[in-house]
Amino acid sequence: MTSEGLQISKEESGIIVSPTKTITLRIFRYNPKINNESKFDEFKIPYQRWTTVLDAILEVKKHLDHSIAVRYSCRQASCGSCGMKINGRPALACFTKISELNSDVITIEPMNNFPIIRDLAVGFERMFSTHKKIKPYIINEESEINPGTKEFLQTPEDVEKYIQFSSCIKCGLCNSACPTMATDSSFVGPQALAQAYRYVADNRDKGKDDRLKIIDDSHGIFRCHFAGSCSQVCPKGVDPAMGIQLLRGYLLGFRD
Ligand code: SF4
Ligand code: FES
Repeated sequence: MTSEGLQISKEESGIIVSPTKTITLRIFRYNPKINNESKFDEFKIPYQRWTTVLDAILEVKKHLDHSIAVRYSCRQASCGSCGMKINGRPALACFTKISELNSDVITIEPMNNFPIIRDLAVGFERMFSTHKKIKPYIINEESEINPGTKEFLQTPEDVEKYIQFSSCIKCGLCNSACPTMATDSSFVGPQALAQAYRYVADNRDKGKDDRLKIIDDSHGIFRCHFAGSCSQVCPKGVDPAMGIQLLRGYLLGFRD
């Protein structure tokens, strides 16, 4: 399949009007139901300053090849569905503008460190089961909540300790960027560790000891080499690398 053969004209494009530029998309293709071989297909499409990588993929699906498998939902960086590797870097396709990539060719691949289901769609089962394992909810007895108001009041300082970590949308970009995930398929991963910190740092929660036990095993928190790539790729401003360091402080006795 060549870039000459598959192009969208200005007239064909419903969403992208009055295009001024054209981009070549190289999209990873792999369908284990057909065979175990992967390849890249190339497509040329027009784009505008505001066109995202997801818009471009959906244009290709609409006009040139509807068989491309891609997962997405909200199209506004909220659901965490559209993570993929864009020019070698894990990113949300709906949150990445073509015009900001400064490249005439965009290579789009499935995220690393996740099993490929087909084309750009990967399986999230392992990440969600690890997330569940760290007990991502407030553990507290009813008796500790103010019986009059049914509220547990927190100061702004209390909230500040965990609030950035509660922005996680479970997109998996951090796990995809993590070099330890690449070499230890049982590593708990930055996504789950950041969420363990989110609850440990919340003064409404009493599950700290449970969670510290869960993350302190041979594939746990001390496998992290502190590369920091998880924090560099997070689209929501979460800093898993910092959360991991703060969690280690509890295990090493620097915090209580
Ligand atoms: S910490 Fe950031 S990169 Fe990791 S899953 Fe959550 S939102 Fe995505
Ligand atoms: S489609 Fe929901 S985060 Fe991109």
